[in-house]
Amino acid sequence: MPVLPIVRLGHPALRAVARALSPEQLAGAEMQQLIDDLVDTMREAHGVGLAASQVAAEIQVFVYESAGHDIPLRVVVNPMITPQERELVYDWEGCLSIPDLRGMVPRHPEVRVQGLDRSGQPLDYLCRGFEARIVQHEFDHLNGVVFLDRMRDFKTLGYIDEWQRMGDGEGDESAVG
Ligand code: NI
Repeated sequence: MPVLPIVRLGHPALRAVARALSPEQLAGAEMQQLIDDLVDTMREAHGVGLAASQVAAEIQVFVYESAGHDIPLRVVVNPMITPQERELVYDWEGCLSIPDLRGMVPRHPEVRVQGLDRSGQPLDYLCRGFEARIVQHEFDHLNGVVFLDRMRDFKTLGYIDEWQRMGDGEGDESAVG
């Protein structure tokens, strides 16, 4: 399976609003291949999530998975996200399209996810914590939003290798997608 190039901040696809897929488009061989490629590309890049926008495909699809957090592979098409609590919680994030930087990002602790799976069947589930953070990060990508836009304090922004060199563990457990 081909691993696709991940575009970085500056590429217009990362600032575009992705198009919804029709059931016919989703069922097509081309789209099914793209979904396989998204999964392979995410794994190769050691990310916990990847949106189609990040491979310059402006369509509403994202994938995510984290073995370390017991989150099985999910493919979400035409997503709708509904926060379950007004409160926001801060934690570290990074982005495969903004390499090496980490920052503290406020997110809703629990969201409802509605959409379709890769076979066109309806999805409707709740997720919390790390998974909810990944989902909000990837959903943002489909709307042309990156984690930097969500940050409230850029003093928490930094290069992961600078922190690692100092051995203080900042940003080690980031959600990178
Ligand atoms: Ni990202």
